[in-house]
Amino acid sequence: MNLIILGPPGAGKGTQAAFIASEKNIPHISTGDMLRDAIKKGTDLGLKAKAVMDAGNLVSDDLIIQLVKERISQTDCQQGFLFDGFPRTIPQAEALEGNNVKIDSVIELTVGDEEIIKRMSGRRIHLDSGRTYHIDFNPPNKEGFDDETGEELIIRKDDLPETVKDRLRVYWKQTQPLIEFYQAHSKISELKYHVVDGTLSVEEIMQNIKDFLSI
Ligand code: AP5
Repeated sequence: MNLIILGPPGAGKGTQAAFIASEKNIPHISTGDMLRDAIKKGTDLGLKAKAVMDAGNLVSDDLIIQLVKERISQTDCQQGFLFDGFPRTIPQAEALEGNNVKIDSVIELTVGDEEIIKRMSGRRIHLDSGRTYHIDFNPPNKEGFDDETGEELIIRKDDLPETVKDRLRVYWKQTQPLIEFYQAHSKISELKYHVVDGTLSVEEIMQNIKDFLSI
């Protein structure tokens, strides 16, 4: 089963994707996490991506498409995968089709811009795993530390309010057209398109997705 979780920055994609991937036993492919890992390791890709990401812009389609092609050719993706943060532009979605990658379901999380700006200021992440917390809505057991490793949590550079506003602008211009793209596909193919209110609690959203995916 190949799935996409779609929605604006901070909609809760990563939070729900971790849960879905573990329930379905498929890899969670977050292009944002892969890029942050490349930056941490200082690879060529990381060097190219850093300034672009810090400014809230999108990394070039060519680099991202190559990264994803390599990732889904790995053996753990044979039974399916869950994309989080990809595709993010129409050319990225078309590249999937051009490579005969069939998408079974798209789950869209909807959250208004004001709520997103509030959420981002409270987000904390564990850099190595991508595990995500929120100081009020989804706090770690011990403030400032990852539940599983006990390592320190960080604040993402692109979570500063001004950068979040830029990321939202980029989302509405370049990523939002994918909603229409996949909704149109769902009318002429077997692809299922499911919209969830992302302002519900983490648990309510999980239950809604569970019902949709029958898990
Ligand atoms: P990426 O890492 O993909 O960031 P994003 O899409 O902007 O999404 P986020 O990770 O910010 O949010 P999320 O929806 O996963 O929310 P989360 O679960 O963390 O991309 C970063 C950058 O990389 C991009 O800007 C771009 O530069 C580059 N990039 C990545 N992919 C690319 C691509 N395909 N093409 C080009 N460039 C690319 O939740 C947010 C907060 O809210 C957390 O604190 C969480 O605990 C909390 N929360 C979650 N659910 C709820 C809830 N229901 N109620 C209350 N709080 C909640």
